[in-house]
Amino acid sequence: MDRHITLGEFIVENQKDFPYAKGELSGLLSSIRLAGKVVNQVINKAGLAEILGKAGQENIQGESQAKLDVMANDVFVETLRNRGEICGLVSEELEDFIAFEGDINKGAKYVVLMDPLDGSSNIDVGITVGTIFSIYRRKSEVGNKVELEDFLQPGVNQVAAGYILYGTSTLLVYTTGKGVNGFTFDPGIGSFFLSHPNMKIPEFGNIYSVNEGNYVHFPKGVKKFIKWLQELDENDRRPYTARYTGSLVADFHRNILLGGVYFYPEGTTAPKGKLRLLYEANPIAFVTEQAGGKCTNGLRRIMEIQPKELHERIPFYCGNKVLVEKAEEFLRKYD
Ligand code: AHG
Ligand code: MN
Ligand code: MN
Repeated sequence: MDRHITLGEFIVENQKDFPYAKGELSGLLSSIRLAGKVVNQVINKAGLAEILGKAGQENIQGESQAKLDVMANDVFVETLRNRGEICGLVSEELEDFIAFEGDINKGAKYVVLMDPLDGSSNIDVGITVGTIFSIYRRKSEVGNKVELEDFLQPGVNQVAAGYILYGTSTLLVYTTGKGVNGFTFDPGIGSFFLSHPNMKIPEFGNIYSVNEGNYVHFPKGVKKFIKWLQELDENDRRPYTARYTGSLVADFHRNILLGGVYFYPEGTTAPKGKLRLLYEANPIAFVTEQAGGKCTNGLRRIMEIQPKELHERIPFYCGNKVLVEKAEEFLRKYD
């Protein structure tokens, strides 16, 4: 890899894409980069620092919080608060939105919605986890306290979104609506370098990612789609193969590079699916579309759905257009 362009340089260089921006969005992306580096460092030594395991409490969604969920949440909240580029934040780990009302946040135009640590069930077994973020311009007047409506915006209003993957290497992937770029962290130097310019999901892919343990609960169309993925082709070969880690960031990142489909459908135990519209589905949908893929709830484009609640869940089908459309075809036919 050529270590030519750092993430910091790239952000500044592309600031010109926003003719009226005064650098706040660049500053905000830099804050996310900084918090990501801190979280990365903690995750890397998790087994040594007594931060594995449960925190002993549940979040608003009734999920048991891991110590690292709480730690990652605190790092992002405090880093973003102290840098002043945003006036409010929503996190998976917090019941309500936080309004940042310090002097430094007074003129801020942006809000962030995030999943500080995605794939928490993987932490204690040393498997890849991630961070997902979504950035909007506030709707209410700058200078006032942020309101719920600033956060309940459809995904098409996102000004930037992306994720950090804490895996065999650490990557930050983001879009501002002008394509998708990925940056790999060099821990020796302490910087992210552009490693995946202009990412595009391959037109065809052979991977499907779904928690098949939920099969019995899936709608009939989803069951039929899974069976279709498992069928032999005319040459007696199975064209598709399954990969699932239980961390959306990891499953999505693999599929954006290699091609395939990720889906977390509705089912009787999760009537609206499991993934959260605002800080999981929408940011991943923005990246997917910018990379040439498709993301729907089985019927409609994810990014056009008007959210009603901060932690609302949504069925999610994401990846190669052909495969997402195939899933939709089965859903239309059987459900
Ligand atoms: P989180 O750890 O932020 O709560 O998210 C977990 C999500 C997502 O990352 C993953 O794709 C999915 O839940 C896995 O769910 P199952 O364990 O039900 O497959
Ligand atoms: Mn998550
Ligand atoms: Mn999470």
